[in-house]
Amino acid sequence: MSDILIDARSLSRSYLQGESSIAVVASATFRLRARDRVALVGRSGSGKSTLMHLMAGLDVPSSGAISWSALGPAETLLPAKISLVFQAQSLLEPMTVSENVALPLLLAKSTVDIDAAVSAALATFGLESLSRKLPEELSGGQMQRVAMARAIVGNPSVILADEPTGQLDQPTGHALLDALLAHLDGTNTALVIATHDPSIAARMNTIWRIERGVLVESSGTLEEA
Ligand SMILES: Nc1ncnc2c1ncn2[C@@H]1O[C@H](COP(=O)(O)OP(=O)(O)O)[C@@H](O)[C@H]1O
Ligand SMILES: [Mg+2]
Repeated sequence: MSDILIDARSLSRSYLQGESSIAVVASATFRLRARDRVALVGRSGSGKSTLMHLMAGLDVPSSGAISWSALGPAETLLPAKISLVFQAQSLLEPMTVSENVALPLLLAKSTVDIDAAVSAALATFGLESLSRKLPEELSGGQMQRVAMARAIVGNPSVILADEPTGQLDQPTGHALLDALLAHLDGTNTALVIATHDPSIAARMNTIWRIERGVLVESSGTLEEA
């Protein structure tokens, strides 16, 4: 199987603003490979979330091409093969922590032992004691950790985490990243984290920088157009 999980060529996403069309992501060309650890950095409004939604197949590019040849058709990506951790709170309010974390397995009709997989995912982020709580009983940081447990539970090929440490103080953010990286160590999963925090970005092995929709600077595996 190819190591290239996401292959994007001249990817653009524009929105109409009055009469004119504004490119929120402009001609982004990149490849995401198995085991990549990418920090997507850029100011607020630079296009990070839009790019992540394109990478997840949740949004459709205005022009350019994106393919997930190694992963299968776009409509089968979420949530089994690609996990997207939204920037905004995304736990379902009437469901407990455990039920929220089980969701990707239920949606993907997984045949694994759901209770065991959910317990392991919760334990990865030290959340065992919260399993029966409702989202409204959690702090913002706890919700982010539950969303992360939900992202790993199905062993996806790609995890796209949109500012997952945004609600956390720096030591707690690093602890979350420690747990995530330790969990992914030895797997083929690729990880992309959007972050404002240079100390978080420095822990990835590739940095993609986005400025006003343009991927302008990088280290590591970003390919030339
Ligand atoms: N659905 C939309 N309609 C119009 N403009 C949008 C939409 N989604 C995002 N934008 C605009 O695109 C720009 C980039 O947004 P976003 O991708 O959320 O950036 P970031 O995640 O880096 O903060 C912002 O100026 C935002 O207002
Ligand atoms: Mg964003």
